[in-house]
Amino acid sequence: MLIRPVRYEDAASLQRHCFGAMTIEQVAAMIESLVDVTDTVSLVADDGSEAVASCTVTRLTHRLCRHRADIGGFVIAPSAQGTGLARRIVNEASRYAREWDCTILEISCRGGTHAEEAYVGLGFTEWARLPGGYREEAGTFDEVRLWKRLDG
Ligand SMILES: CC(C)(COP(=O)(O)OP(=O)(O)OC[C@H]1O[C@@H](n2cnc3c(N)ncnc32)[C@H](O)[C@@H]1OP(=O)(O)O)[C@@H](O)C(=O)NCCC(=O)NCCS
Repeated sequence: MLIRPVRYEDAASLQRHCFGAMTIEQVAAMIESLVDVTDTVSLVADDGSEAVASCTVTRLTHRLCRHRADIGGFVIAPSAQGTGLARRIVNEASRYAREWDCTILEISCRGGTHAEEAYVGLGFTEWARLPGGYREEAGTFDEVRLWKRLDG
C-alpha cells in the first residue's frame, strides 16, 4: 500500500471507498481545493489500483500557531481498517508536519466512537472535549480534540 499525495484521478475511488455521502463531482471539487495549497497536503493510500484512505494535513495559519499541524478528513475504507494503515498514514502526515517545523500534531473526532480509541492507540492525548459539540442526524457527540508531540 503506497501512501502518496492525492491526484485528480483519485476522485472516483475516493468517492467509492471513503466519501460515499458525496458525489464524484463534490469529491473532485474537494481534491481541486486541496492540490497545490501551501502548507497543506492531502494524502491517499493507494492499493495499486484504488485510493482506499484519505487524510489532509494542514499547518495552522495563525502566527502564534505555526508550530502546529492538524489532520482532518481521516477516512479509511472499512476493508482496510485495523490493518496498520492508520499508523502508516499518521507517520507520513507527521513527516510533512516536521518538514514545516511543526512540533505539535492535532486531530479531532466524535467522542465515544472507534476513532477516539484509535487516535489514543496511535499516541494522541486528549486536550479538549466540548460536550455535545457535534450535532448530526446520527445523534449528538462530544467534540474531542487530541494532540501528539512531533519532537522529542
Ligand atoms: C478513524 C479511522 C481512520 C481509524 O483507522 P483504523 O484502521 O480503524 O484504526 P485502528 O483500528 O488500526 O487503530 C489504530 C491503532 O490504535 C489501536 N487501537 C484501536 N483501538 C484501540 C483501543 N480500544 N485501545 C488501544 N488501542 C487501540 C490499534 O491497535 C492500532 O494500533 P496498531 O497500528 O499498533 O495496530 C477509521 O476507523 C475510519 O476511517 N473510521 C471511519 C471514519 C471516521 O470516523 N473518521 C474520523 C473522523 S473524526
